[in-house]
Amino acid sequence: MTSTLHVGIIMDGNGRWAEGRRLPRSAGHRAGVRTVRKMVEYAPKLGVGALTVYAFSSDNWRRPPTEVRTLMRLLETYLNHETEHCLKQGVRIQFIGRRDRLARMLVAAIETAEERTKHCRALTLRIAVDYSSRDALVDAARAMAGSGRFDRESMKEALGTEDLDLVIRTAGEKRLSDFLLWECAYSEFVFTDKLWPDFQPSDLEAAIEIFRNRTRKFGGLVSKAS
Ligand code: FPP
Repeated sequence: MTSTLHVGIIMDGNGRWAEGRRLPRSAGHRAGVRTVRKMVEYAPKLGVGALTVYAFSSDNWRRPPTEVRTLMRLLETYLNHETEHCLKQGVRIQFIGRRDRLARMLVAAIETAEERTKHCRALTLRIAVDYSSRDALVDAARAMAGSGRFDRESMKEALGTEDLDLVIRTAGEKRLSDFLLWECAYSEFVFTDKLWPDFQPSDLEAAIEIFRNRTRKFGGLVSKAS
């Protein structure tokens, strides 16, 4: 079993989870953060080396300002409370996405978390915030134009991200929603009806089991996913 499985999660269903309980949507997002914590704890035990979670897409700015504020605060609180814990667990925290539209305090918290955990190797937790894969590709194309090198390797380098082995999306939706389009070229997809706050480590384990039983051919004729 490889210990470098790269899993991406499109966390969906926080709002529906809250609505089902007659709670404000913010309660759903708080519950969603609890699930992130559990996944970070369990992912390394399941052979995951990198976990990319889609926390806030660039299109999420269209949500009501109160909800946007809640999500931004939750991210900052997560960093302030969890960085220490991540350090102890050997979890490296990284962010992808634009930073210029985030509050200064949040950017400071991101930079601190990235710097403090940069030596950690048990798991890379990559949090996508104000992230749009199309924008990332445009930026990468611009960097490539600057260097004059136009090939797959240069694109990979300019994007700064790795290919995803497995993408999981919760809450019954079956879309990519501008998430790591280049990096998903040969990903396996697992969709579940579970709402993100209800998603358990056993669900992650089951998704990885499904992945491992898939045959990955990369266009060729070979082998099982590993
Ligand atoms: C989608 O559910 C979820 C989001 C847009 C936000 C996900 C963010 C978190 C779980 C918090 C992230 C925090 C950390 C620490 C990474 P939705 O609100 O669109 O649900 P709905 O489709 O049921 O309305």
